[in-house]
Amino acid sequence: MIFLCQHNQFIQQTKRLSEQLNIPWSDQITGHSCFLSFTETGLSYCDNELDCGNLLIDFNHGKLAHRIQNQHDNHHKQPLAKAIGTKKRPIVVDATGGLGKDAFILASLGCQVTIIERSPILYALLFDALKRAQQDLSTESIVKNIQLINADSKQLIASDFFLLNNQAIDVIYMDPMYPKRNKSAKVKKEMQIIQKLVGKDEDSADLFEICLNIATKVVVKRPKTAQPITQKKADYNVVNKNTRYDVYLGTVRT
Ligand SMILES: C[S@@+](CC[C@H](N)C(=O)[O-])C[C@H]1O[C@@H](n2cnc3c(N)ncnc32)[C@H](O)[C@@H]1O
Repeated sequence: MIFLCQHNQFIQQTKRLSEQLNIPWSDQITGHSCFLSFTETGLSYCDNELDCGNLLIDFNHGKLAHRIQNQHDNHHKQPLAKAIGTKKRPIVVDATGGLGKDAFILASLGCQVTIIERSPILYALLFDALKRAQQDLSTESIVKNIQLINADSKQLIASDFFLLNNQAIDVIYMDPMYPKRNKSAKVKKEMQIIQKLVGKDEDSADLFEICLNIATKVVVKRPKTAQPITQKKADYNVVNKNTRYDVYLGTVRT
């Protein structure tokens, strides 16, 4: 894995991020099948072993951007919004940031969202995408609602971080990598890359226990027919075609 820099215009950015992420950089592609590189469109990850094309997070074009631009009055009724309770504009911690899609939707609905992502590569891709979204008039106000942190949520949430920064937490949202998939299920290309980068999130039950001790509400996204994340029964579920949101009301009182 390297940072590839084939254009001089990106040399400073490449060197800076390569140092920050502790990933070596090169101007030669030979011998490297996976690399991060800056292009005119932004920072992207390329994995030639997976034959999936590039992974570039983009909040301003494509399906998600279209969905956000066309949100109607009933947008608080979509399952994710319903599970989180976006009408009340809660302060949300997204403990499993990933590509930031769910967090971006929540922020577009007026929630203050802290995204925590532990993979330095996904964090870098997200950081770059949010920077671009901040420079675009149509998404600038959404990015204002987002704070991005590169950390393991288990440690950060259990620590005094939010308390010390005077940040309340109303809801913690978790969308860990899905458990075993039906082999015939087509795994989206971008998900194949994430699976390779972050693995299976085997510690998600531990993260859940920590979250439940901290927040008054924890929402866990699962495949519709999957087992709950632990033996604990959800207080209620919000279900759509393929997904189930298990909602747990913690014992913590604010
Ligand atoms: C399925 S993806 C989340 C997708 C995301 N909801 C979206 O809308 O793009 C799961 C992500 O959670 C991250 N993750 C899992 N456990 C974590 C933890 N304890 N701390 C921080 N990130 C975690 C993984 O690195 C992975 O990127």
